[in-house]
Amino acid sequence: MSPFNLQTCARPNILALDPYRCARDDYKDDGKNILLDANENAYGPALAADAVPVTGSGPGSSPGSDPATLDLLGLHRYPDPHQQTLKQLLCDLRTTHAHTPKTLSPANLFVGVGSDEAIDALLRCFCVPGRDKLLVCPPTYGMYSVSAQANDVSLVRVPLLPAPTFALDTPSILAALSADPSIKLAYLCSPGNPTGSLLSKSSIAQILAHPTWNGLVVIDEAYIDFSSPESSLAEWVTEFPNLVVLQTLSKAFGLAGIRLGAAFADPAVAALLNNLKAPYNISSPTSALASLALSDSGLAIMRRNVALLNRQRDRLVAELPKIKGVGRLRGGTDSNFLLYEMLNDKGEADNTTALAVYERLAEEKGVVVRFRGREHGCLGCLRITVGTEEEVTRFLGALERTLKEVRGEGQVPADEEEKEVAANAVVA
Ligand SMILES: Cc1ncc(COP(=O)(O)O)c(C=O)c1O
Repeated sequence: MSPFNLQTCARPNILALDPYRCARDDYKDDGKNILLDANENAYGPALAADAVPVTGSGPGSSPGSDPATLDLLGLHRYPDPHQQTLKQLLCDLRTTHAHTPKTLSPANLFVGVGSDEAIDALLRCFCVPGRDKLLVCPPTYGMYSVSAQANDVSLVRVPLLPAPTFALDTPSILAALSADPSIKLAYLCSPGNPTGSLLSKSSIAQILAHPTWNGLVVIDEAYIDFSSPESSLAEWVTEFPNLVVLQTLSKAFGLAGIRLGAAFADPAVAALLNNLKAPYNISSPTSALASLALSDSGLAIMRRNVALLNRQRDRLVAELPKIKGVGRLRGGTDSNFLLYEMLNDKGEADNTTALAVYERLAEEKGVVVRFRGREHGCLGCLRITVGTEEEVTRFLGALERTLKEVRGEGQVPADEEEKEVAANAVVA
């Protein structure tokens, strides 16, 4: 018998890994649920319905010759390993000259399989396993800690200031960086997930100017296009060699399914990330679809969808406080999601109520949101992704009825749609 023993053979930090969890671990997408859990773009991709030119030039065609064409019969070739054309489109989008007169170039870019690849690649690039550390500011995006644990990198946590500002505690961050030279990276999320708040540019500038710390500030701007125009600091990487700005096409561009993320950085940092990556990490279909989304017509659709979602966000902010049992908005309104307290019958924010609302909404009403009550400073909170107009209408009705039931204010008769949902409930 082989002496193989998984428990002693695998790396201890991987055996102990607490994997990323999402609401879809609990509730499957059965095609009927309203999915307001993962901050996707409810209005769909930034692609015109008839805009995806599919060609079939087949053997002999060169991959990437027309990056905005989906060449199905050319898929036997590996994709372009450098993605210069796609990178130029990203640079054109983020060169606004709002923060610097300098201009981004493809040398400033790493593109990856979602921004999750860049989150992991930076850790592998800068943190020696078992020795170096990552600074994070909870409440924040869960993949930072999962990736850190997978890379055997420990966390230094400097919580954000309490809600509703959820601003950076800049003096504490500066002190932590002064005290511990093994911190190599600081992951800051702006607008924050789950806070929805944009971080202050002057706080970020103070951290970038730390007089003794030898490390990088990474700003995750996954939701930046839902914020005010020109709020992205991507072009600031031309000013600060210790700044990285992460972006993704998964949110405002509505392309979570293609897995395309980017890290803007000083050319020397971008070169390290590019040296480290698998050679063909961006597939040809991903590259073609991303190029279309970043074309003039794609950008126009993205901006229209963002405007539609922001209108529904304003509607939620106006309507939610009218529902009995909905507490305070705990974060900002700079993203396509909102963080709200759920109140028990004593009027207190509480996790039992929030969890019961989360479960009943999904199982009985077919509306999946995200329970965030166990995150730092988010007691009793649900994170609600902004949906389409119809989804928001259904969500508001379902939430009102669910809160009445959970708070013991009477059973509310289900509407026809809910009866169907309950009959077909799909729990993962
Ligand atoms: C703050 C933040 N960063 C990054 C990501 C991951 O994005 P991607 O789909 O590009 O991997 C998410 C996804 O929810 C997120 O909320």
